[in-house]
Amino acid sequence: MHSCYAAGAPVAHAALWRAFFASCPPCARVLDLACGAGAVACVARDAERGFDVTGVDFATEIKSIDGVKLVLGAPLEALPLPDAGFDVVVSQYGFEYADVEPASRELARVLAPGGAVALVVHAREGAPVQDIAGRLARARRMLAPGRFADVVLRLADALMAGAPTESLAAEAEAARAVEAKAEHDGTTRACWRY
Ligand SMILES: C[S@@+](CC[C@H](N)C(=O)[O-])C[C@H]1O[C@@H](n2cnc3c(N)ncnc32)[C@H](O)[C@@H]1O
Repeated sequence: MHSCYAAGAPVAHAALWRAFFASCPPCARVLDLACGAGAVACVARDAERGFDVTGVDFATEIKSIDGVKLVLGAPLEALPLPDAGFDVVVSQYGFEYADVEPASRELARVLAPGGAVALVVHAREGAPVQDIAGRLARARRMLAPGRFADVVLRLADALMAGAPTESLAAEAEAARAVEAKAEHDGTTRACWRY
């Protein structure tokens, strides 16, 4: 709930959040963006400063959290929340998952004048971002025209339509062979059965 790994060592964030919330005005309206299970929202709730705490996330499966209002199924890019409705906006490893430009506009819209913002985000050069960037690049490569996923999808369409498939099957096998030689991981392994 309150830690991550940096350079192979656990880093605790709860102390950082406690210090931040101690600097916020009492009874502040606090919004936790991309709250997940409420790691930061719970620190705000437990700060005993009379905060009115709301968590927002586009996930819908999040369990209710005592003392925290949840707004679920809500994207950071289009918050179903009032203008200037919050004195403090926070996020921990959440804000950067959104489309940052519209999410920033929404953050600014819901923040009251003079309000405070604190975001803990993954470093661009850090392992999670680098890993995801690599997976995304590999997935995009497989989906590109003539590459494995593209050919298999066309083959499936041809099969569904009852059209001839021999040349597409050969193309798919060739694309698979190309993919097999490329760098891959569990996300993008190319395999098929025809
Ligand atoms: C890594 S989790 C962090 C959760 C929590 N803040 C924490 O520190 O444990 C990222 C969260 O961002 C949410 N999320 C990702 N993109 C989002 C978006 N565009 N709008 C709203 N929530 C989003 C996910 O559903 C997930 O709960």
